[in-house]
Amino acid sequence: MTAQEDYQSEIKFSLVIPTYQESQTISSLIASVTNCLDQVLFQQYEVIIIDDNSPDLTWEIAKKLQKCYPQLQVICRQGKRGLSTAVLDGWKVAKGDVLGVIDADLQHPPQVLKQLWQEIEKGADLAIATRYKKGGKVEHWSVTRQVLSKGAHWLGLIFIPDVISGVSDPMSGYFLVRRCCLEYSFLRPVGYKILLEVLGKGKIEKVAEVGYCFQARLRGKSKVSYQQSLDYLHHLFRLRLALFPTQKFFRFAIVGILGIGVDLGSFWLLQQFNFNLTSSAILSTEIAIIHNFFWNDRWTFHEITQTQKQLKQQLRRGLSFNIICGAGLVINGLIVGGLSEQFGVNQYLAKLSAILLVMLWNFYLNLKFSWQW
Ligand code: GDD
Ligand code: MN
Repeated sequence: MTAQEDYQSEIKFSLVIPTYQESQTISSLIASVTNCLDQVLFQQYEVIIIDDNSPDLTWEIAKKLQKCYPQLQVICRQGKRGLSTAVLDGWKVAKGDVLGVIDADLQHPPQVLKQLWQEIEKGADLAIATRYKKGGKVEHWSVTRQVLSKGAHWLGLIFIPDVISGVSDPMSGYFLVRRCCLEYSFLRPVGYKILLEVLGKGKIEKVAEVGYCFQARLRGKSKVSYQQSLDYLHHLFRLRLALFPTQKFFRFAIVGILGIGVDLGSFWLLQQFNFNLTSSAILSTEIAIIHNFFWNDRWTFHEITQTQKQLKQQLRRGLSFNIICGAGLVINGLIVGGLSEQFGVNQYLAKLSAILLVMLWNFYLNLKFSWQW
């Protein structure tokens, strides 16, 4: 058995290092990374460099290092194809049950790998090195970069709060994740922020965070440009769309449309029984709300309700649905009145806008509160 095969037979952890123009740091990074990993994983790990054909020949230097480090693999892709896809390509060839990523420019201190690994051993699915928890900080960042970073975080909180609100540094490019958590997830990152995909699409139960100091870049140049900001926006939109529960939304809309029929039908029936106009209108609306709740509970959200069948739980959902839809009716009236009376918008256009907005309101709030998705 060659030394390389010996390594490959018992790999627990695969660390991917994306590189572009990092010839000045790659040697000391590999020395430091392997030294740290040897302490916690002995020889049961591999390091995979994914270089995008760097003009400074980073990949060639890395290939020469393979003689000293049998656990090192080097892949050189043609053309500069981006940080996130480099990480994914590395994970594709990785053999470990745990996958990791670290920058090549020494801004991510390799010593932290030991703590990250220990968190995985303690049971975490995802261990993130964070700049914003105890022990974490950023060294020498320009004010512009700090503002951009904070702005990006806030944008993320607006677009994908469900994905990132639980972690302090969702933009981190330094983390470890169990392969099984990503098994059936279709990761399609754009740009730099691969962790957003992992958080959004992975089946992650337990997250651990380890504070670290994001060091100043001493060698080489950052590849960050305005393009990354555009990529980030693109990524946020794409992730939001991908995570939107489309099937549930369509079912909810179908039930809503049937509900209009139920509303009109029962209104007509109540009129036949000589109910006055106001009570017919109120009663028929309530009948439609109950009808909609029935089908949403049994059809739209059935995989959630399967495990919550107790009468008390059903009543709680029903009450919550009623309150949210009731508030929706009030909002509907306010929008129609506001748009047509205050802004002179055509009545039917105002009504159509109100229906669409209230449908989104009803869907989103019921999703979150009634069925607690
Ligand atoms: N293969 C490949 N292709 N690697 C790339 C590319 C590319 O197109 N662009 C950048 N890299 C590599 C760099 O060589 C470096 O190892 C790493 O990706 C990060 O690139 P930097 O340009 O140094 O990024 P940064 O310092 O601004 O930000 C990094 O650190 C942040 C804090 O943890 C990124 O990793 C961010 O994602 C991270 O949030
Ligand atoms: Mn960097």
